Amino acid sequence: MNNIVWHPHAVTRSDRSRAKGQQPVVLWFTGLSGAGKSTLAGALEEALAAHGKHTYLLDGDNVRHGLCSDLGFDEAARRENIRRVGEVAKLMVDAGLIVLTAFISPYREERDLVRGLLGEGEFLEVFVDAPLALCEQRDPKGLYKKARAGEIRNFTGIDSAYEAPLQPEVHLINSGQSVPELVDVLLSALRERGLLD
Ligand code: ADX
Repeated sequence: MNNIVWHPHAVTRSDRSRAKGQQPVVLWFTGLSGAGKSTLAGALEEALAAHGKHTYLLDGDNVRHGLCSDLGFDEAARRENIRRVGEVAKLMVDAGLIVLTAFISPYREERDLVRGLLGEGEFLEVFVDAPLALCEQRDPKGLYKKARAGEIRNFTGIDSAYEAPLQPEVHLINSGQSVPELVDVLLSALRERGLLD
């Protein structure tokens, strides 16, 4: 960072957020593979779009095709994955967007690191909580089966750790309620914080 000076620009963050008529925020979905992060984040994004909100959904499976295509799944690679996504989310918040992220993000330390990149109240951790047995039963991509067969190493929940959030802003138990019901919980959490009129 030596010899690099931050350049202030004329159009500010609050100009951008005012132009969009919204307060930017990150909704950080975390949970096991197959817990429903992408589904719920996608459904929430649809609901927000219907409210006229400007959003962007960063999804692990998609980001790993581009920005993070050089990263695997060992501990260091996952930490770097989350660090990059955190920095991108921060830029998008600066741009005035409501950002939804769907990454396993298994380590508390990295989730807290991203929280620390953002301002007070700008990072809402959403724990998509579904029992491993249920995720494994759903197995939408057939990856648990491969992990159990030893064809995939370092699979979260099988031979790689998942550290559940201790105090998430929103804790969704995704094993009984419908997607629309859970989206309502999320919309209420946004309303309570004055982020949705
Ligand atoms: S994270 O741990 O670095 O946050 P991320 O959310 O980007 O993971 O990617 C998880 C997705 O990659 C899973 O939903 C799954 O489809 C796929 N995947 C491939 N290998 C693994 C693995 N070893 N552990 C977990 N997910 C994996």
